[in-house]
Amino acid sequence: MQTKPTSNASARLIWLLGTLLTGVLAQDAKGWYKAHPGMARISQVDQDKHQIVDEFGRTRFFHGTNVVMKEAPWYRPLEWVPGVPSFGEQDVQNLHDLGLNIVRLGHHWAGAEPVRGVYNDTFLDIMKKQTKMAEDHGIYVLVDVHQDCLSQKFCGHGVPDWFVEEDWVSSNERFPFPQKLKPFPVDQNGLPSPESICDTVDWSLSYTSVAVGNAFGRLYNNYDGLGDAFAAYWKELASQYVETTNIVGYNLLNEPWVGDTWADPTLLVPGVADHKVMEGLWNRATKQIRTVDNGTLIWFEGATLDVLSGFNNVPLGEGSKSVQSFHYYSPPQLGSISATLSNRNKDNKRLKTAGVLTELTFWMGDDKQMSGLADAMSATDANMISWIGWAYENLYNGTTGDPYPELAKHYSRAYPAAVAGTPTSFDFSESAGVFKLGFTSDPKIDAPTEIILPSSTFPNGYSVQITPQDSLLQYKVDDRTLALFTSNSIHNATDIHVTVSRK
Ligand SMILES: *[C@@H]1O[C@H](CO)[C@@H](O)[C@H](O)[C@H]1NC(C)=O
Ligand SMILES: *[C@@H]1O[C@H](CO)[C@@H](O)[C@H](O)[C@H]1NC(C)=O
Ligand SMILES: *[C@@H]1O[C@H](CO)[C@@H](O)[C@H](O)[C@H]1NC(C)=O
Ligand SMILES: *[C@@H]1O[C@H](CO)[C@@H](O)[C@H](O)[C@H]1NC(C)=O
Repeated sequence: MQTKPTSNASARLIWLLGTLLTGVLAQDAKGWYKAHPGMARISQVDQDKHQIVDEFGRTRFFHGTNVVMKEAPWYRPLEWVPGVPSFGEQDVQNLHDLGLNIVRLGHHWAGAEPVRGVYNDTFLDIMKKQTKMAEDHGIYVLVDVHQDCLSQKFCGHGVPDWFVEEDWVSSNERFPFPQKLKPFPVDQNGLPSPESICDTVDWSLSYTSVAVGNAFGRLYNNYDGLGDAFAAYWKELASQYVETTNIVGYNLLNEPWVGDTWADPTLLVPGVADHKVMEGLWNRATKQIRTVDNGTLIWFEGATLDVLSGFNNVPLGEGSKSVQSFHYYSPPQLGSISATLSNRNKDNKRLKTAGVLTELTFWMGDDKQMSGLADAMSATDANMISWIGWAYENLYNGTTGDPYPELAKHYSRAYPAAVAGTPTSFDFSESAGVFKLGFTSDPKIDAPTEIILPSSTFPNGYSVQITPQDSLLQYKVDDRTLALFTSNSIHNATDIHVTVSRK
């Protein structure tokens, strides 16, 4: 509509209003970020969209990597030395530059509670320091209690050494029986000796040993209060982190084994262990967390052998504050990544929760493996699923300390970190350098859509096309983030399409 000015005065007024309006809009972006410094808190799942949302109601997506130290002192050193895996200032800067916005950071129980009932504050302070460094670079942290084969006593890692007692299984069935018919000799601390003897067993097959199954069974059964001890460690972590802005969740336990399959072989049937043994422990831990922290999302895993999840309920039955944390490796997953993502979407609908791919193969390999990684990148986009690669240290050539370009290019994809509405699709073509996002705007959300466009992927900048035109106001927040504020003129839910093309 055009109004014809009736006099010079009103013409001037209209001109003035127009200038003011543009000024206000342009200022708004800066003003918004000034009024909302720091990262947005994340503590909610939209149970209809099956997506994680932030304090403004924006749908959030994450690309990131795993940082886990599987031996004493149970944390990565802070100092950057090329070729030596670290996690300090230089590392969080590197992750920021790659465009990543999440780290799944191992918080080893072995490091935190070396003596039963006594937490190591020095260790916990180092973990908090690394978490703060990530926050200062715009990176969320998923607190992950990590394990593989549970204990150093089983050539693995995870629980403190006091957890497993030698006489739990008879002397002829000790680790790694029956993988090896003769149990390994142990030192005075009960650890296999010499250490190199561990190289003679395949860790993933060690889960089928009598001793590992037995120890997991005791964790799930709360033998001698071990389940309570696990829950108490989670309460300790939650009290440390309840006020921390960039905590995106508590990942209860990495790749939980199905339990004592020697006592109960039905646990090997996919789906059974989830409801039969894990659900109880997840509830026990979550109940303790919730005595000190009502908000933070609980990320739970099921058996790695599952095709479909076998949980009856998410922890404490509260799907609006839980996330299914799942992995994709081939094997044990037999089908394509698309099949796994589609099954996990079914789980999320049934359990009324969201899901994130918290581990996938992200290291150099043969052509088949590298094309599998490229497939994973398009499949996660197509299913609108966030991912966290395994693992950060594999990004670098250990000799030179330089990142492998073939991995870095996947890490530094364009993606929508925050969507002010309901995302309908997004994808990024690495070869063409074209990112596309479709979403239905939600005028009630007072926060911008944010797209991550790493400068290594867009070295000469980018051009942006938006339909409908003028529905979004562009604002460059920092070297990697393009904010798109939904224009004040859009009062209703509107389908908006954004295309960002490499120059
Ligand atoms: C606590 O952690 C620090 C840092 O890793 C370590 O130096 C110290 O030995 C630990 N204390 C105990 C009792 O294990
Ligand atoms: C959590 O929420 C419940 C119910 O609203 C409340 O009683 C409890 O005090 C809260 N706990 C914490 C630690 O905020
Ligand atoms: C790592 O870098 C060194 C030195 O440039 C090179 O010889 C080696 O092939 C690289 N390793 C891999 C796995 O590419
Ligand atoms: C926009 O929303 C308002 C209020 O909800 C409604 O009255 C109006 O018809 C809508 N306009 C369009 C174009 O859908």
